[in-house]
Amino acid sequence: MSDASARQHPQVVLFDRHVNPAFVRLLGTLGYGRIFTRARGTRMWDHEGREYLDMLSAFGSTSLGNNPEELTTAMKSFLDDDAVNLVHIGPQVHAAELASDLAALAGGDLEVSMFSNSGGEALEAAMKLARAATGRTRIVYAKGGFHGSGLGPLSIMGSGRMRDVFEPLVPDCVEVPWNDAGAIDTALREGKCAAVILEPIQIEAGVLLPKEGYLAEVQAMCKKRGALFVLDEVQTGLGRTGSLFAYEREGFVPDVLALGKALGGGMVPISATLASRDVWNRAFGTAEKFDLHGTTYSGNAFACRTARTVLRLVQEKELPRRAEQLGALFLDALRDRVGKHPFVRDVRGRGLILAVELGAEPRTGVGKLLSGVVDTLSRKVFGQWLAVRLLEKNIVCQPASQQWNVLRLEPALTVTEAEIIRTVEAIGDILAEYTEMVPLLRDVGQRLGKQALSGFSF
Ligand SMILES: Cc1ncc(COP(=O)(O)O)c(C=O)c1O
Repeated sequence: MSDASARQHPQVVLFDRHVNPAFVRLLGTLGYGRIFTRARGTRMWDHEGREYLDMLSAFGSTSLGNNPEELTTAMKSFLDDDAVNLVHIGPQVHAAELASDLAALAGGDLEVSMFSNSGGEALEAAMKLARAATGRTRIVYAKGGFHGSGLGPLSIMGSGRMRDVFEPLVPDCVEVPWNDAGAIDTALREGKCAAVILEPIQIEAGVLLPKEGYLAEVQAMCKKRGALFVLDEVQTGLGRTGSLFAYEREGFVPDVLALGKALGGGMVPISATLASRDVWNRAFGTAEKFDLHGTTYSGNAFACRTARTVLRLVQEKELPRRAEQLGALFLDALRDRVGKHPFVRDVRGRGLILAVELGAEPRTGVGKLLSGVVDTLSRKVFGQWLAVRLLEKNIVCQPASQQWNVLRLEPALTVTEAEIIRTVEAIGDILAEYTEMVPLLRDVGQRLGKQALSGFSF
């Protein structure tokens, strides 16, 4: 392939100049050389017409596949009927219908929806809602948690790398270890808490699953102490984990639920923060307070109608059940093929969010030094290296954003068994080349050398 044609591509030059030069340089470190120009279903095509299998689905946003025909056809019809897209002077009818659908699906008392445009905004809304409803300030979150990059959600971001540059952030946000219900109990006893905010699975921290009963225990503790339990299902929601919402298999309904990504079908920016009528009323339920939170495009007709269609398609196609069945098959096949590889620490997942954690087994003596080197290499480049090698085998995927030694596999929920097996075979074949350190160091070194000679060009 000619990466020269990608490098000189006028839009890459524009992106480098006007959007994010550092990202272009980073892509050049190992050699990227592609521009994705078209996508449909589980497939994407680059600027030279090569086809790729999409095993990332825009971090779980394109759950129905890329540009899903039933959705785009519906969207075209929405554009044709002159609906008022932004209504601020009266009730938004399409927002009302979407909120009603969400209430029916979410269960419990989750009856009222606040709409925004991104996942981070849904968490921002949840933080404000919790403070306003309880009259308290403290918010407890877990180390490793990822909730968005605005100053609000950043204050509950469990990763120093993302947060530190922007300190001081919103005060009285308290970090506890993930999967430690005792630590949450202590934080709830120490001060009056507005909310505990967790993801049901910490995907960006490396697809970390909750311990059995952990989330339900946190819900019970929150209830006892008058705090709200906010569950961030921005990435797990709408079928990915094998049920419509991940909390369904945990046996409870949260006080506040945040949704995003897949809600817009990968086509429109929309997110939602669901709460009970009581909680919402306590926060915003008077003429003085009804407009304390909002954004111009929230609840716009086009996004809400698109999201309603997404909800209908997810149910009609029984995508949660499909995610459960194909996810189990994926996990078994991955474990069979690479589970015993010397540089694979763990293979885990739930539904169609899976992870291959890379690194060496802890050793003693001389082996300790070696395993230390493998670990460092894994954290810095191995996951990215594997992703680049997969790209060269026409498969798109990425490591977890906060844990580069964890390769995340997150296809559309419409993925087929054959596509899953193709991915497992490709990962197995690449890892088979690296059962020892030397070939890995050699290959990464050679690639870095080649890229350095070209000035790490894209
Ligand atoms: C669990 C979770 N919450 C919130 C967000 C933020 O969503 P957005 O990028 O749409 O702001 C993300 C993004 O990855 C996420 O995974």
